[in-house]
Amino acid sequence: MSENFEVKLDGKTYLPDPSVKENSWIGDYEQTYEKFLKYPSAYWEMIADELEWFQRWDTVLQWEHPYAKWFTNAKLNITHNCLDRHVFDGRRNKVAMIWLGDNGEEMIFTYRQLYREVMRFANGLKSLGVEKGDTVCIYMPLVPEQIIAMLACARIGAVHTVVFGGFGSNALRSRIRDAQAKIVITADAGMRRGKRVELKAIVDEAVVNSSSVEKIVVLRRMSPPMELYSEIEVDFHEIMESAESECEAEVMDSEDPLFILYTSGTTGPAKGIVHTCGGYMVGTYYTTKCMFDLKDNDVMWCTADPGWITGHSYIVYGPLSMGGTILISESTPDYPDPGAWWRIIEEFDVTIFYTAPTAIRMFMKFGEEWPNRYNLSSLRILGSVGEPLNPEAFEWYYSVIGKEKCPIVDTWWQTETGMHMLTTAVGEPMKPGFAGRPVPGVVADVVDEDGEPVPPGTGGFLVIKEPWPSMMRTVHQNDERYRQYWNTIGNYYTAGDLAVKDEDGYIMILGRSDDVLIVAGHNIGSAEVESALVSHESVAEAAVIGKPDPLKGDSIKAFIILRVGFKASDKLKLDLVYHVRMNLGPIAIPSEIEFVDSLPKTRSGKIMRRVIKARELGLDLGDVSTLEE
Ligand code: PRX
Repeated sequence: MSENFEVKLDGKTYLPDPSVKENSWIGDYEQTYEKFLKYPSAYWEMIADELEWFQRWDTVLQWEHPYAKWFTNAKLNITHNCLDRHVFDGRRNKVAMIWLGDNGEEMIFTYRQLYREVMRFANGLKSLGVEKGDTVCIYMPLVPEQIIAMLACARIGAVHTVVFGGFGSNALRSRIRDAQAKIVITADAGMRRGKRVELKAIVDEAVVNSSSVEKIVVLRRMSPPMELYSEIEVDFHEIMESAESECEAEVMDSEDPLFILYTSGTTGPAKGIVHTCGGYMVGTYYTTKCMFDLKDNDVMWCTADPGWITGHSYIVYGPLSMGGTILISESTPDYPDPGAWWRIIEEFDVTIFYTAPTAIRMFMKFGEEWPNRYNLSSLRILGSVGEPLNPEAFEWYYSVIGKEKCPIVDTWWQTETGMHMLTTAVGEPMKPGFAGRPVPGVVADVVDEDGEPVPPGTGGFLVIKEPWPSMMRTVHQNDERYRQYWNTIGNYYTAGDLAVKDEDGYIMILGRSDDVLIVAGHNIGSAEVESALVSHESVAEAAVIGKPDPLKGDSIKAFIILRVGFKASDKLKLDLVYHVRMNLGPIAIPSEIEFVDSLPKTRSGKIMRRVIKARELGLDLGDVSTLEE
């Protein structure tokens, strides 16, 4: 962004029924925010005190810019709070997790059952030599075992790195290598629209020359069971069967790492975002409680995969630390028909539903008749995440799904932030198009390049001004990259998003300020797609941009310069798409490819994606004085 720009802000406001606020955990937003501002440490301490710690902290926050330590010297285990606490506190037989398979299969775990499964698998991991501090890569479909594996790692202090099952072999390999994973946990296959999606075959490719990997644990769900290579592969169920069912929770320091989760950046391979035990637990517990207003009789369905931060925070750690009931489903929204998800809501009395704008826009396209066939009256809170929820989609979600009685929490946050940062607290007036105001505990603002707040109605950079408990602590193997987040604009945390504030302090997200693409709510680095393309024998150079797409947010367009000896053709386009699919996975495939003779570059040889994009979209090219070609 070169100059500040004006954004026209007008539109409707929706006010939920006053009973929503009266009965909510958060109460009055403004009063709560004031309370936090007055005594920030006491505010977080009050929340942390609702959880169980093996040893209490010395100080709530130790802050040496840009490094934060939260709840110093406190000892805990997040699984103690997600499992033991409930098993020994009256929720033993409460349903913790309902799983629905792609083929209509169903599995239900009470807290007691989940607790046992986690402890068994934790012992199984120990028997494979996994120790506190080791890294374990989890590459699985959306099955209960995926969550059991995450919790089992946390139980014994192993650092999990979950890789979404839709990633291809190169994406998986680079994550396994960067994290130096000792164990990879996978499954033979996932199921999607009634068909197998092979996972183990991708792991086989990814672990070639990944010397850190000692064992591969395979969940065999399909019949006939696939053969395992006994040198390195072990069966998930066999480990479970031979393991003891008691496993004490490892005593973790508040600042010990809990997990690494990779997210795309503008340059190079994905960044390993490191989250730690204490602060992350407090942040996800707090926001699940206060932003989703989770109560004991709720059934919460977050439609993300646990392989993304949304799943980590709001399928696994947040809701379970609250003792909530989660529903997870391997199903696709429009399979076998576009009523699939609404049927699930009716069948299981889902009360809190959390999904992405892309899904909402897709349902809008199918029409109201699908949701109208089902009784959705159990719904109480609707959530949105991953990309801006445009006013049209808000209106549809609010009236057709929520029947004008459910608050919509459009939650803005990131892999790096660990928890919700901006939203409209339940019970507060909602403004379509705006995510909302900072979560109490978060100090956010919209500023110019120098860090000066911009006036309402003027676009600027979204920053977070103060540390918060669930902030990332570093980028794995790249602390320099971590520091950049905190020293790009003043001393603030720069999110990389453009935003605008209105007179009431409501913030609207306008999109990324960098070359990260948001495709169907998922971060894709243009550089990652480019490097996958360049690894094809025919490609000399590639540039990738995002084009606005009415359904997916961004769609990917690639510009390609071919090597000498290769000729542009439709067949080659298909080959390139296939190549990206195999390397990075289906989420990263370009929807358009154009062969070109040259690309605009700076004198230092950097491809100017901004210029390509402006030309593609017919916009003003802006300052091109540094342009070489
Ligand atoms: O651009 C913002 C967008 O998603 C980015 C973070 O992506 P990721 O780390 O994958 O996490 C996604 C799920 C938390 C942000 O920088 N984003 C996320 N939520 C919203 C959003 N954009 C607009 N509105 C949101 N509610």
